[in-house]
Amino acid sequence: MGTENKVRERVFSGAQPTGNMHLGNYLGAFRNWVKLQDSFECIYCVVDLHAITVFQDPKELVDQTREAAAAFLAAGIDPKESILFNQSQVPQHSELAWIFACVARMGWLNRMTQFKDKAGKNREKASVGLYAYPTLMAADILLYKASRVPVGEDQKQHLELTQDIARKFNNDFGVDYFPNVEPVITGNATRVMSLRDGTKKMSKSDPSDFSRINLTDDREAIARKIKKAKTDSEPLPDNPQALKNRPEALNLISIYSSLADVSLDEVCGRFAGLGFSPFKEALTELAIDRLGPVTEEMVRLKQDPGYVDSILRDGAARASEIAERTMAEVMEIVGLLRP
Ligand code: TYM
Repeated sequence: MGTENKVRERVFSGAQPTGNMHLGNYLGAFRNWVKLQDSFECIYCVVDLHAITVFQDPKELVDQTREAAAAFLAAGIDPKESILFNQSQVPQHSELAWIFACVARMGWLNRMTQFKDKAGKNREKASVGLYAYPTLMAADILLYKASRVPVGEDQKQHLELTQDIARKFNNDFGVDYFPNVEPVITGNATRVMSLRDGTKKMSKSDPSDFSRINLTDDREAIARKIKKAKTDSEPLPDNPQALKNRPEALNLISIYSSLADVSLDEVCGRFAGLGFSPFKEALTELAIDRLGPVTEEMVRLKQDPGYVDSILRDGAARASEIAERTMAEVMEIVGLLRP
Protein backbone atom coordinates (compact mmCIF):
# COMPACT_ATOMS: atom_id res chain seq x y z
CA MET A 1 0.00 0.00 0.00
CA GLY A 2 1.39 3.41 -0.89
CA THR A 3 1.77 6.25 1.62
CA GLU A 4 -1.20 8.06 0.12
CA ASN A 5 -3.65 5.37 1.31
CA LYS A 6 -2.37 5.22 4.85
CA VAL A 7 -3.92 6.81 7.90
CA ARG A 8 -1.81 9.84 8.63
CA GLU A 9 -1.12 8.78 12.20
CA ARG A 10 2.44 7.73 12.83
CA VAL A 11 3.76 4.63 14.57
CA PHE A 12 7.12 4.59 16.33
CA SER A 13 8.91 1.83 18.18
CA GLY A 14 12.41 0.71 19.02
CA ALA A 15 14.59 -2.00 20.50
CA GLN A 16 17.99 -1.90 22.17
CA PRO A 17 20.98 -3.53 20.48
CA THR A 18 22.18 -5.14 23.68
CA GLY A 19 22.59 -8.78 22.75
CA ASN A 20 20.43 -11.57 21.49
CA MET A 21 17.06 -10.63 20.12
CA HIS A 22 14.68 -13.30 21.35
CA LEU A 23 11.20 -14.76 21.08
CA GLY A 24 9.86 -12.16 23.56
CA ASN A 25 11.00 -9.31 21.32
CA TYR A 26 9.55 -11.09 18.29
CA LEU A 27 6.11 -11.92 19.72
CA GLY A 28 5.79 -8.89 22.00
CA ALA A 29 7.03 -6.34 19.47
CA PHE A 30 8.44 -7.10 16.00
CA ARG A 31 5.51 -9.15 14.77
CA ASN A 32 3.09 -6.39 15.69
CA TRP A 33 5.35 -3.80 14.07
CA VAL A 34 5.14 -5.71 10.81
CA LYS A 35 1.35 -5.83 10.89
CA LEU A 36 1.07 -2.05 11.39
CA GLN A 37 3.08 -1.28 8.24
CA ASP A 38 0.06 -1.73 5.99
CA SER A 39 -2.06 0.89 7.71
CA PHE A 40 0.32 3.51 9.13
CA GLU A 41 3.48 5.42 8.43
CA CYS A 42 5.90 3.46 10.61
CA ILE A 43 9.29 4.38 12.04
CA TYR A 44 11.40 1.66 13.66
CA CYS A 45 14.60 2.45 15.47
CA VAL A 46 17.60 0.57 16.83
CA VAL A 47 18.10 2.57 20.02
CA ASP A 48 21.87 2.51 20.42
CA LEU A 49 21.88 5.59 22.70
CA HIS A 50 19.65 3.73 25.13
CA ALA A 51 22.04 0.77 25.02
CA ILE A 52 24.97 2.84 26.33
CA THR A 53 23.12 3.67 29.55
CA VAL A 54 25.04 0.60 30.71
CA PHE A 55 28.57 0.13 29.40
CA GLN A 56 28.85 -1.54 25.98
CA ASP A 57 32.04 -2.72 24.36
CA PRO A 58 32.38 -0.32 21.37
CA LYS A 59 33.25 -3.05 18.85
CA GLU A 60 30.41 -5.26 19.97
CA LEU A 61 27.96 -2.38 19.94
CA VAL A 62 28.59 -1.79 16.25
CA ASP A 63 27.94 -5.45 15.44
CA GLN A 64 24.93 -5.63 17.71
CA THR A 65 23.40 -2.55 16.11
CA ARG A 66 23.64 -4.25 12.71
CA GLU A 67 22.30 -7.46 14.19
CA ALA A 68 19.29 -5.68 15.70
CA ALA A 69 18.55 -4.06 12.34
CA ALA A 70 18.89 -7.51 10.72
CA ALA A 71 16.33 -8.85 13.21
CA PHE A 72 13.85 -6.11 12.28
CA LEU A 73 14.32 -6.88 8.58
CA ALA A 74 14.16 -10.65 9.05
CA ALA A 75 10.94 -10.30 11.04
CA GLY A 76 9.39 -8.58 8.03
CA ILE A 77 10.00 -4.84 8.32
CA ASP A 78 10.04 -3.48 4.78
CA PRO A 79 12.62 -0.68 4.63
CA LYS A 80 10.93 0.93 1.64
CA GLU A 81 7.55 0.99 3.28
CA SER A 82 8.79 1.96 6.75
CA ILE A 83 11.73 3.99 8.06
CA LEU A 84 14.41 1.86 9.75
CA PHE A 85 17.47 3.53 11.29
CA ASN A 86 19.69 3.69 14.34
CA GLN A 87 19.02 6.43 16.84
CA SER A 88 22.51 7.97 17.12
CA GLN A 89 22.47 8.95 13.44
CA VAL A 90 19.74 11.50 14.15
CA PRO A 91 21.13 13.93 16.78
CA GLN A 92 17.73 15.53 17.42
CA HIS A 93 16.85 12.53 19.65
CA SER A 94 19.45 13.71 22.15
CA GLU A 95 18.49 17.37 21.78
CA LEU A 96 14.82 16.77 22.47
CA ALA A 97 15.72 14.41 25.32
CA TRP A 98 17.50 17.31 27.06
CA ILE A 99 14.45 19.53 26.73
CA PHE A 100 12.29 16.71 28.11
CA ALA A 101 14.74 16.20 30.98
CA CYS A 102 13.85 19.77 31.91
CA VAL A 103 10.11 19.10 31.60
CA ALA A 104 9.97 15.75 33.46
CA ARG A 105 9.98 15.80 37.27
CA MET A 106 12.35 13.82 39.50
CA GLY A 107 9.32 12.33 41.24
CA TRP A 108 8.09 10.87 37.95
CA LEU A 109 11.41 9.21 37.19
CA ASN A 110 11.76 7.94 40.76
CA ARG A 111 8.69 5.78 40.17
CA MET A 112 10.10 3.91 37.15
CA THR A 113 10.26 0.22 37.99
CA GLN A 114 12.70 -0.58 35.17
CA PHE A 115 15.27 1.79 36.68
CA LYS A 116 14.78 0.21 40.09
CA ASP A 117 15.22 -3.28 38.59
CA LYS A 118 18.24 -2.40 36.49
CA ALA A 119 20.02 -0.24 39.05
CA GLY A 120 19.31 -2.79 41.79
CA LYS A 121 20.75 -2.09 45.22
CA ASN A 122 23.57 -0.06 43.77
CA ARG A 123 21.57 3.01 42.75
CA GLU A 124 24.36 5.44 43.54
CA LYS A 125 26.57 3.75 40.96
CA ALA A 126 23.97 3.69 38.15
CA SER A 127 24.63 6.10 35.27
CA VAL A 128 22.68 9.36 35.06
CA GLY A 129 21.69 8.13 31.59
CA LEU A 130 20.01 5.04 33.01
CA TYR A 131 17.97 7.26 35.30
CA ALA A 132 17.03 9.70 32.52
CA TYR A 133 16.38 6.84 30.06
CA PRO A 134 12.60 7.44 29.82
CA THR A 135 13.09 11.08 28.77
CA LEU A 136 15.11 9.86 25.77
CA MET A 137 12.38 7.35 25.00
CA ALA A 138 9.77 10.12 25.10
CA ALA A 139 11.98 12.12 22.72
CA ASP A 140 12.20 9.15 20.30
CA ILE A 141 8.44 9.00 20.02
CA LEU A 142 7.49 12.67 20.13
CA LEU A 143 10.23 13.81 17.74
CA TYR A 144 8.06 12.17 15.08
CA LYS A 145 4.79 13.14 16.78
CA ALA A 146 3.95 9.44 16.73
CA SER A 147 0.65 8.60 18.37
CA ARG A 148 0.84 4.80 18.43
CA VAL A 149 3.63 2.81 19.99
CA PRO A 150 3.59 -1.00 19.70
CA VAL A 151 5.52 -2.55 22.60
CA GLY A 152 5.50 -5.44 25.06
CA GLU A 153 3.87 -5.06 28.47
CA ASP A 154 7.16 -4.10 30.18
CA GLN A 155 7.28 -0.72 28.39
CA LYS A 156 3.83 0.46 29.51
CA GLN A 157 5.08 2.59 32.40
CA HIS A 158 7.58 4.36 30.15
CA LEU A 159 4.78 5.21 27.73
CA GLU A 160 2.67 6.64 30.53
CA LEU A 161 5.61 8.88 31.39
CA THR A 162 5.81 9.91 27.72
CA GLN A 163 2.15 10.94 27.93
CA ASP A 164 2.88 12.98 31.06
CA ILE A 165 5.82 14.73 29.40
CA ALA A 166 3.79 15.57 26.27
CA ARG A 167 0.95 16.92 28.38
CA LYS A 168 3.21 19.01 30.62
CA PHE A 169 5.11 20.43 27.65
CA ASN A 170 1.83 21.46 25.99
CA ASN A 171 0.56 23.00 29.27
CA ASP A 172 3.77 24.76 30.23
CA PHE A 173 4.11 26.44 26.85
CA GLY A 174 0.40 26.90 26.17
CA VAL A 175 0.47 24.92 22.93
CA ASP A 176 -1.31 21.94 21.47
CA TYR A 177 1.84 20.58 19.90
CA PHE A 178 2.57 16.99 20.93
CA PRO A 179 -0.15 14.37 20.36
CA ASN A 180 -1.51 11.88 22.84
CA VAL A 181 0.54 8.70 22.73
CA GLU A 182 -1.31 5.42 22.74
CA PRO A 183 0.48 2.21 23.74
CA VAL A 184 -0.35 -0.69 21.41
CA ILE A 185 0.06 -3.84 23.49
CA THR A 186 -1.65 -6.66 21.63
CA GLY A 187 -1.73 -10.44 21.31
CA ASN A 188 -1.31 -13.31 23.75
CA ALA A 189 2.42 -12.85 24.23
CA THR A 190 2.76 -9.31 25.54
CA ARG A 191 4.99 -10.67 28.31
CA VAL A 192 6.86 -13.81 27.29
CA MET A 193 8.47 -15.44 30.32
CA SER A 194 11.76 -17.27 30.79
CA LEU A 195 11.73 -20.95 29.75
CA ARG A 196 13.53 -21.77 33.02
CA ASP A 197 11.27 -19.77 35.37
CA GLY A 198 7.71 -18.81 34.47
CA THR A 199 7.72 -15.90 36.92
CA LYS A 200 10.66 -14.10 35.24
CA LYS A 201 10.53 -12.18 31.97
CA MET A 202 12.39 -13.66 29.00
CA SER A 203 15.31 -11.30 28.67
CA LYS A 204 18.52 -10.68 26.75
CA SER A 205 20.45 -10.31 29.98
CA ASP A 206 19.50 -13.65 31.60
CA PRO A 207 22.80 -15.54 32.06
CA SER A 208 21.15 -18.83 31.03
CA ASP A 209 20.85 -19.22 27.27
CA PHE A 210 18.26 -21.93 27.94
CA SER A 211 15.95 -19.26 29.36
CA ARG A 212 15.22 -17.85 25.90
CA ILE A 213 14.88 -18.72 22.24
CA ASN A 214 17.17 -16.39 20.32
CA LEU A 215 16.28 -15.24 16.84
CA THR A 216 19.65 -16.64 15.75
CA ASP A 217 18.99 -20.13 17.15
CA ASP A 218 18.94 -22.93 14.60
CA ARG A 219 16.33 -25.69 14.54
CA GLU A 220 18.30 -27.99 16.84
CA ALA A 221 18.78 -25.26 19.43
CA ILE A 222 15.07 -24.37 19.36
CA ALA A 223 14.14 -28.04 19.82
CA ARG A 224 16.63 -28.52 22.65
CA LYS A 225 15.44 -25.44 24.54
CA ILE A 226 11.75 -26.32 24.31
CA LYS A 227 12.53 -29.88 25.39
CA LYS A 228 14.37 -28.58 28.47
CA ALA A 229 11.79 -25.87 29.27
CA LYS A 230 10.47 -26.06 32.82
CA THR A 231 6.93 -27.44 33.26
CA ASP A 232 4.86 -28.90 36.08
CA SER A 233 3.56 -32.42 36.62
CA GLU A 234 -0.13 -31.84 35.78
CA PRO A 235 -1.61 -32.61 32.35
CA LEU A 236 -2.70 -29.65 30.20
CA PRO A 237 -6.05 -28.19 31.32
CA ASP A 238 -9.16 -27.74 29.17
CA ASN A 239 -9.46 -24.01 29.86
CA PRO A 240 -7.03 -21.08 30.35
CA GLN A 241 -8.49 -20.10 33.76
CA ALA A 242 -7.01 -23.30 35.19
CA LEU A 243 -3.52 -21.97 34.34
CA LYS A 244 -3.66 -19.29 37.00
CA ASN A 245 -1.09 -20.82 39.36
CA ARG A 246 0.87 -22.63 36.68
CA PRO A 247 3.21 -19.94 35.28
CA GLU A 248 5.37 -22.25 33.14
CA ALA A 249 2.36 -23.98 31.58
CA LEU A 250 0.68 -20.63 30.95
CA ASN A 251 3.83 -19.29 29.31
CA LEU A 252 4.25 -22.24 26.90
CA ILE A 253 0.56 -22.23 26.01
CA SER A 254 0.66 -18.47 25.43
CA ILE A 255 3.69 -18.86 23.17
CA TYR A 256 1.87 -21.58 21.21
CA SER A 257 -1.25 -19.43 20.95
CA SER A 258 0.70 -16.45 19.71
CA LEU A 259 2.80 -18.37 17.17
CA ALA A 260 -0.27 -20.20 15.82
CA ASP A 261 -2.43 -17.05 15.93
CA VAL A 262 -5.23 -18.84 17.80
CA SER A 263 -6.85 -18.13 21.18
CA LEU A 264 -5.74 -19.63 24.49
CA ASP A 265 -9.11 -21.41 24.66
CA GLU A 266 -8.43 -23.09 21.37
CA VAL A 267 -4.95 -24.25 22.41
CA CYS A 268 -6.37 -25.68 25.66
CA GLY A 269 -9.10 -27.39 23.65
CA ARG A 270 -6.52 -29.02 21.36
CA PHE A 271 -4.24 -30.36 24.11
CA ALA A 272 -6.59 -30.87 27.10
CA GLY A 273 -5.64 -33.89 29.22
CA LEU A 274 -2.33 -34.53 27.41
CA GLY A 275 1.06 -34.43 29.12
CA PHE A 276 3.76 -31.91 28.27
CA SER A 277 5.73 -34.27 26.10
CA PRO A 278 3.34 -34.33 23.10
CA PHE A 279 2.56 -30.63 23.62
CA LYS A 280 6.25 -29.75 23.53
CA GLU A 281 6.67 -31.73 20.32
CA ALA A 282 3.84 -29.76 18.70
CA LEU A 283 5.25 -26.48 20.03
CA THR A 284 8.72 -27.31 18.69
CA GLU A 285 7.34 -28.04 15.25
CA LEU A 286 5.33 -24.81 15.26
CA ALA A 287 8.23 -22.70 16.54
CA ILE A 288 10.61 -24.09 13.93
CA ASP A 289 8.02 -23.52 11.20
CA ARG A 290 7.43 -19.88 12.21
CA LEU A 291 10.92 -18.89 13.33
CA GLY A 292 12.95 -20.89 10.79
CA PRO A 293 12.56 -18.34 7.98
CA VAL A 294 13.39 -15.46 10.38
CA THR A 295 16.51 -17.22 11.64
CA GLU A 296 17.69 -18.05 8.13
CA GLU A 297 17.21 -14.49 6.94
CA MET A 298 19.15 -13.18 9.94
CA VAL A 299 22.05 -15.47 9.16
CA ARG A 300 22.01 -14.25 5.55
CA LEU A 301 21.86 -10.56 6.55
CA LYS A 302 24.71 -11.03 9.01
CA GLN A 303 26.92 -11.85 6.06
CA ASP A 304 25.95 -8.64 4.29
CA PRO A 305 26.73 -5.73 6.66
CA GLY A 306 27.08 -3.35 3.68
CA TYR A 307 23.42 -3.88 2.79
CA VAL A 308 22.26 -3.39 6.39
CA ASP A 309 24.33 -0.20 6.66
CA SER A 310 22.81 1.18 3.46
CA ILE A 311 19.31 0.61 4.86
CA LEU A 312 20.22 2.39 8.11
CA ARG A 313 21.80 5.30 6.22
CA ASP A 314 18.76 5.75 4.01
CA GLY A 315 16.40 5.44 6.99
CA ALA A 316 18.34 8.04 8.96
CA ALA A 317 18.15 10.52 6.07
CA ARG A 318 14.37 10.09 5.91
CA ALA A 319 13.99 10.30 9.70
CA SER A 320 16.17 13.44 9.80
CA GLU A 321 13.81 15.34 7.55
CA ILE A 322 11.01 14.95 10.09
CA ALA A 323 13.27 15.33 13.13
CA GLU A 324 14.85 18.60 11.96
CA ARG A 325 11.45 20.15 11.37
CA THR A 326 10.13 19.16 14.81
CA MET A 327 13.26 20.33 16.59
CA ALA A 328 13.16 23.73 14.91
CA GLU A 329 9.52 24.14 16.00
CA VAL A 330 10.27 22.97 19.54
CA MET A 331 13.14 25.45 19.86
CA GLU A 332 10.88 28.23 18.78
CA ILE A 333 8.17 27.18 21.26
CA VAL A 334 10.71 26.99 24.09
CA GLY A 335 12.33 30.32 23.17
CA LEU A 336 15.75 29.09 22.14
CA LEU A 337 17.21 31.71 19.81
CA ARG A 338 18.33 30.72 16.34
CA PRO A 339 19.31 34.04 14.78
P1 TYM B 1 13.78 -3.65 24.55
O1 TYM B 1 14.97 -3.48 23.68
O2 TYM B 1 13.99 -4.17 25.92
O3 TYM B 1 12.73 -4.58 23.85
C1 TYM B 1 12.24 -4.35 22.54
C2 TYM B 1 10.75 -4.70 22.47
O4 TYM B 1 10.54 -6.05 22.85
C3 TYM B 1 9.56 -6.12 23.90
N1 TYM B 1 9.92 -7.22 24.81
C4 TYM B 1 9.08 -8.19 25.18
N2 TYM B 1 7.80 -8.45 24.86
C5 TYM B 1 7.22 -9.54 25.40
N3 TYM B 1 7.88 -10.41 26.23
C6 TYM B 1 9.17 -10.19 26.59
N4 TYM B 1 9.80 -11.06 27.38
C7 TYM B 1 9.83 -9.05 26.04
N5 TYM B 1 11.09 -8.54 26.17
C8 TYM B 1 11.12 -7.43 25.41
C9 TYM B 1 9.66 -4.78 24.61
O5 TYM B 1 8.47 -4.47 25.31
C10 TYM B 1 9.91 -3.84 23.45
O6 TYM B 1 8.69 -3.49 22.82
N6 TYM B 1 12.93 1.05 26.07
C11 TYM B 1 12.71 0.10 25.00
C12 TYM B 1 13.24 0.57 23.66
C13 TYM B 1 12.77 1.93 23.23
C14 TYM B 1 11.48 2.24 22.73
C15 TYM B 1 11.54 3.63 22.40
C16 TYM B 1 10.31 1.53 22.54
C17 TYM B 1 13.52 3.06 23.19
N7 TYM B 1 12.78 4.08 22.69
C18 TYM B 1 10.43 4.29 21.90
C19 TYM B 1 9.20 2.18 22.03
C20 TYM B 1 9.26 3.56 21.71
C21 TYM B 1 13.41 -1.20 25.34
O7 TYM B 1 14.36 -1.23 26.10
O8 TYM B 1 12.95 -2.28 24.63
